[in-house]
Amino acid sequence: MSVTEEKLEETRRELIEADDRMRLVVDSIRDYAIFMLDESGHVATWNTGARLTKGYLATEIIGKHIETFYTLEDRERGLPRRLLAQAEAEGRVESEGWRLRKDGSRFWADVIITALRDSEGKLIGFAKVTRDLTEKRRADEERLRLIRAEAAARIKDEFLSIASHELKTPLTALKLQIDSLRHQTDSLDPRLAKKVERAACGADRLNGLVESLLDVSRIESGGLTLHPERYDLSDAIKTLVESLRLTAAKAGCSLTFESSGACVGVWDRVRLEQVVSNLIENAIKYAAGKPIQVSLLKKDGEVALAVSDQGPGLTDAALSKLFDRFGRAAPTHHYGGLGIGLYISHEIIAAHGGTIAAENRSSGGARFTVRMPLEEQPTSAAV
Ligand SMILES: Nc1ncnc2c1ncn2[C@@H]1O[C@H](COP(=O)(O)OP(=O)(O)OP(=O)(O)O)[C@@H](O)[C@H]1O
Ligand SMILES: [Mg+2]
Repeated sequence: MSVTEEKLEETRRELIEADDRMRLVVDSIRDYAIFMLDESGHVATWNTGARLTKGYLATEIIGKHIETFYTLEDRERGLPRRLLAQAEAEGRVESEGWRLRKDGSRFWADVIITALRDSEGKLIGFAKVTRDLTEKRRADEERLRLIRAEAAARIKDEFLSIASHELKTPLTALKLQIDSLRHQTDSLDPRLAKKVERAACGADRLNGLVESLLDVSRIESGGLTLHPERYDLSDAIKTLVESLRLTAAKAGCSLTFESSGACVGVWDRVRLEQVVSNLIENAIKYAAGKPIQVSLLKKDGEVALAVSDQGPGLTDAALSKLFDRFGRAAPTHHYGGLGIGLYISHEIIAAHGGTIAAENRSSGGARFTVRMPLEEQPTSAAV
């Protein structure tokens, strides 16, 4: 063998080795289906990725037309042939869509078809690279769903905030007018005075609802602030219970208060009164006609405040969502309410470093217990 022939032989061997290596690379790729089609679109080669993605063995699929991988709908609208024609005309084509596996299941594929030409430019077939993007598509859809849900929740929160602020302004003016009339009832005709009193009660109730909605939007935007002061909680609750006694009596409820004595600490008086009112008002509403007990116990560096009733108690479904925003369990047509009293109460108590819990009493009825540290001072930071 001459030197030239030896060189040629060496080059030929190197080319064969490079070709074998390339084949090995393509064949061992698992994440991409990489295969060739002949010029009329029939499968000519098959790699491991193609087998894993589409489920066919090489012997089952070689010689079959590319249409095999397309859904009936895509075949009927001529998609596979159109893609081949486009690849032939433009050199390559990329498309995403549903494709079929051997078992008939669908997967979301990203497909690139490249036209292969010989040195004279004659079409000799196509290289087809397919990637299964089903998982990615699912994750993208889930992300999109979350983004949409978050946007919807944000819009709802914004609406709640705007609506409650917008309601508050005219309501304050209305309340001022009614309250000024209320102070003149002595000089009014008794029938008119009664109507004024009823209007004033309605305005107070409306004001309470709007204030609660404002609290929710304050909590959501981190703007509910505490104004702590040193005072005797026992004294404050006693006064509050007295002020609610008449309302309780109208609902047929006796209201008693038991305390282990003075309980001085640093808390936000208005906010804690709001919590106790919410609990007592709930008991009046849901356990009408039955006695209600309020108790305050100071023990081991904490205070425990409980409101117990003898009403229907709490179902498991109610217990799981009582403290959620708009977490109502009672039938709406039967009892009015927005389902935010306990949510706001929970946030207020959490801001005081305490807890609020609900349980059913063994003797029947519900008990709500608030526990707060005696020493810890609440921050006036936003909650
Ligand atoms: N003492 C109770 N007995 C039985 N169920 C109760 C009691 N207190 C609360 N619940 C249940 O817990 C739910 C949530 O109470 P929450 O005070 O947050 O809302 P609400 O009373 O429905 O409306 P509002 O926002 O006007 O207070 C109620 O809808 C009711 O189903
Ligand atoms: Mg309530």
